[in-house]
Amino acid sequence: MQDATPANVAGDFSDVRVTFHDMDTRFIRDGDDHFVETVGPAGDRGKFAVRYTFGHRPLQQYLLDRGDGVLQAFDVAWDTRPAPDGQRWFHLQPDEPMAPEHPFFWTRHAMDWSSHCADCHSTNVVKNLNATTGRFRTDYAEANVACEACHGPGGEHVRLAQAGTLAESSHSGFGVGLGKRVQWRFAPGNPIAEPHGNPADRDIDMCGGCHSLRTPLVTDAIGRP
Ligand code: HEC
Ligand code: HEC
Ligand code: HEC
Repeated sequence: MQDATPANVAGDFSDVRVTFHDMDTRFIRDGDDHFVETVGPAGDRGKFAVRYTFGHRPLQQYLLDRGDGVLQAFDVAWDTRPAPDGQRWFHLQPDEPMAPEHPFFWTRHAMDWSSHCADCHSTNVVKNLNATTGRFRTDYAEANVACEACHGPGGEHVRLAQAGTLAESSHSGFGVGLGKRVQWRFAPGNPIAEPHGNPADRDIDMCGGCHSLRTPLVTDAIGRP
């Protein structure tokens, strides 16, 4: 997740027009700012500011301000692979009919950054849901996946490093430590690799919180069994 600056935006915003599901979309750039002109929440056309880029390779998506400050992931994405396969806009739901009332339409809840994306794409995400208004005030320590997303709190690591005592510490001062590495090996004739060695699941706990399909039951799932 990065600011939507010209350096970070991979897609073609040079007043390009595309049509998917009978809906026209224009990708426009004004100075250093990027905009998408398309069908909005109520089915009417609008011009929506691109706030953040999302992803890098093989595709990039864009977080748009829906008009009320809520960040939504746009459902037309940029294929960042080289031409001729890539370097094009495509719709995430190419076959299923799409309309503003569909739950996967970009302004609807399935594309809501706070509830559906932030957890895995930023570090130390706090959602701050106001149950009365039904609005999130989502915050994070770092916009992108950074050290503490995998290692947990890093203050002690920094303290030990500054004191020059890192080498004597266990897990380099991180709350989430790793055991010896599991080795993934293919047995002859078996198309699926099996873990060998350390039976602890530290690596799985460290990575699986984001690299698996899941329902975020708790906000601090990463690094826990
Ligand atoms: C906080 C959530 C989170 C955690 C924890 C996490 N990842 Fe990721 N990882 C992501 C996201 C999101 C991406 C895609 C980011 C992007 O490319 O913009 C990614 C990308 C990757 C990629 C690149 C995949 C590709 O197709 O280019 C690899 C490899 C990877 N992660 C491995 C790991 C491993 C190994 C761990 C554990 C040590 C781990 N990740 C932990 C969220 C996470
Ligand atoms: C359960 C964790 C999780 C959630 C929730 C999640 N992502 Fe991801 N996302 C990942 C991981 C992990 C990868 C990297 C996977 C890989 O490359 O194999 C990824 C990759 C991507 C990529 C591909 C680009 C890249 O650089 O790899 C895009 C775009 C993306 N996610 C957008 C979104 C959007 C938009 C949402 C919300 C609608 C979302 N993601 C929700 C974990 C998640
Ligand atoms: C995507 C997950 C991920 C991110 C992000 C990440 N690390 Fe790591 N880190 C790991 C894994 C996995 C290992 C263990 C590697 C191995 O066993 O070879 C590791 C090992 C380490 C170690 C050695 C730990 C020990 O037990 O001695 C240190 C120190 C470390 N990382 C610091 C950092 C710092 C600082 C950052 C940010 C700049 C960072 N890591 C970002 C996953 C991550």
